Formats: sequence, structure tokens, C-alpha cells
Amino acid sequence: MFYELTAPTWGDEEIAALQRVVASGRFTMADEVAAFEREFAAYFDMPYGVMVNSGSSANLASVAALFYKADRPLVPGDEVIVPAISWATTYHPLQQYGLKLRVVDVDLDTLNIDVRQLETALTPRTRMIVPVSILGNPAHLEEIRDFADHHGLYVFEDNCESMDASINGRKTGTFGELNSFSFFFSHHISTMEGGMVLTADRELYHLVKSLRAHGWTRDLPADSPLYKRWPNQHFEQYRFILPGYNLRPLEFSGATGREQLKKLPAMTAVRRQNHALFRSLFEGDERFIIQKEHGTSSAFSFTIILNPAKGLDREAVFAALREADIGFRVITGGCFTRHDVVRYYDYETVGDLPNANLAHDAGFFVGNHAFDLTPQLQKLRAVLDQACV
Ligand SMILES: Cc1ncc(COP(=O)(O)O)c(C=O)c1O
Repeated sequence: MFYELTAPTWGDEEIAALQRVVASGRFTMADEVAAFEREFAAYFDMPYGVMVNSGSSANLASVAALFYKADRPLVPGDEVIVPAISWATTYHPLQQYGLKLRVVDVDLDTLNIDVRQLETALTPRTRMIVPVSILGNPAHLEEIRDFADHHGLYVFEDNCESMDASINGRKTGTFGELNSFSFFFSHHISTMEGGMVLTADRELYHLVKSLRAHGWTRDLPADSPLYKRWPNQHFEQYRFILPGYNLRPLEFSGATGREQLKKLPAMTAVRRQNHALFRSLFEGDERFIIQKEHGTSSAFSFTIILNPAKGLDREAVFAALREADIGFRVITGGCFTRHDVVRYYDYETVGDLPNANLAHDAGFFVGNHAFDLTPQLQKLRAVLDQACV
């Protein structure tokens, strides 16, 4: 394809890492995963990282952990403020744990939650905000953190789309009590499947570790705040303290993650160069609404919403993109409340969600990759120029 939505980021180093694991004979979660957790957490200047088998699992373990905190746990029926645009598995764990969603529209410029509506979304039952930085562009995380602190709310940051983005020098994925990352194939770094939870809270760290592996105590140190060791080693070996899952990653994912992490700064730099070119090609053209950078984006991909005032035909644009061999797709998951699955949710929207609906009906995104996209972006510009008359 001339301009793909996604592109591989693996090279010889990742293949060598796979072979290192093969040679070790240990394929299930062990030293490589532990090393990757330490290295990843250090990169984000956070004390604790727990690797899991996907970003979705990182979300599940994070939400679950908040239900088992000793102090002020979440309980079913609590309300959570969420943006109208995100991926389905940002929301599903919230539904699975019996939380009620207050769905807030996105800001049309950034495509992130419109923080001006937080006050309206707040009720006496609100316990948590789930900000999501969409497609590399940081949400207004400083304002969200302040608002949450002021009202005694948890922040769970789904940062699966914005690894290596930052605001005033602080990386996204560090603003929440819990923060999730995805290493799926198409993401900033890839372990093919994989995810991570970062936290600065020792109790939450231990909860996520236990929830990742059957809810047992095996991976927890002797001085864990979650339980008191039994003297009987026989029973202690198979001791379950939480209704957990098996979300463990493979050693292969830990090993490839370590190699990918080394390449992340250079890959981000190239993606940002592509982003600068994209902006220079499209900024100021009133036909197209493009994502406005807040803080420093890690440029996951490039969004385009056809300006409704210009009477453009998205189907004609799609046909032209197909003809030009340019990949495109819906912006993340579109407006979440437009999906059939919401029939299973307890939710309310805060207002009518006009911006999320516009992104759903008139938007799309094209890929960004860790190599120079000058020819691809120039062709995109030419194709859209022709199709948008
Ligand atoms: C915002 C967001 N959260 C969660 C996920 C889930 O990540 P994974 O595909 O690793 O399960 C994605 C996936 O793209 C995502 O975009």
C-alpha cells in the first residue's frame, strides 16, 4: 500500500530479543518482563510498572484495583466521568465493575475531554475521571488532576494512544493514580500484544500485580501491605486474596519491549517531524479541522474532520483515498454512545455530544510512522485538494 495506516517498528534487535528468550528456554513471565517493567517505569520517572498482556488488560486491572483499596475503594454505582471518544476497552471495565458513566463531549480542537464541562458532569456520586489523550495529543491533564484533587476523585489515565507525549515536561501516563499503556502492533512501541500499568502508589501496585496473576500472593513481596504471610509455606504457595485474572504477558513481549523502549525517543522524534509537516500542509485550510496540539503530542496519527460548513462529501473523500491507496479509519472508536454495546451500560451524557458526533460522522485519521512520510503526506494533500471542491 502507498500509505499504510500502520507500519512495523521491529528490526534485528527485536528478532535477537526473541531468540534470546528461545535460548533461555523460559517463555512465561520472568526476568525479561521484570526488567522491562523497571526500565519502562524509569523512563516515565514512576516508581512502579506492571506489565500485562494488552492495554485493555491494563485498563481492567487498573479499574479492578480501585475496588480493593483498603481506604476509599470504588463501589458499584459510583459515577465516572469519561470522554465521548475513546476505545471500547477504556469503558468496558467500568461497565463490568458496575460503575455509572457520565459521558462528556470532546473539545473539537483537541478531540480530548472538554474540561469546561467537568463541573456540569460532577454529581455527589462522582468518584473518578478517566482522561484519555487521543492519538498522541495530551488531554488537559493538569486541569483534570487539579479538579480531581479539589473534589477528592481518582484519576485513571488511559494513555494507550499517547506514549511519550508530555505537558510542561511531564509525560502523559503519569497524572493518574493508575495509568495504562498499550504495546499493540500499531502503537508507539510494540510487543505485538502487551500493556503496562504505571502507578506511584505501593498498595495499588501490589493490587495490580495480584490481580494480574489469579489474585494470588505469589508475586508479592513478604512485606506487602495486602496481607500477612502465613507461617505454613505449603499453603502460602497457593494463596488467593483477590478475585483476579490471568493477564500475564509472555517473556517474548518483555524482551521485545526492552528493545523497543530504547528506540522510542528516536521514533517519537521522527513522528513529530512528520506531524510538523502534516500541520504545515493542512493548518489554516478551512475545509479541514485538524487536531490542535495541547502540550507536546507524540503524534500517533493525523486526524481530519471535514468542516460541516463547507458542504463536503466524506464518501467522495473516502473513494479518492481508496483510489490513491491511502489507508484511513474512524477516529479511535468514534463517539462511544453510537455503538450497540451501550445498551448494556448505565450511562448518561452530559449534553448532546455534538463534537464527538461530528468527529464520528465527518472525521477520519491517517497513520503516522517512525520514518519520513514526506511523499505520503504530500500525496494526501493533493488527493484531498482534488476531492474537496
Ligand atoms: C485509548 C485506548 N485504550 C485502550 C486500548 C486497548 O489496547 P490493546 O489493543 O492493547 O488492548 C486502545 C487500543 O488501541 C486504545 O486506543
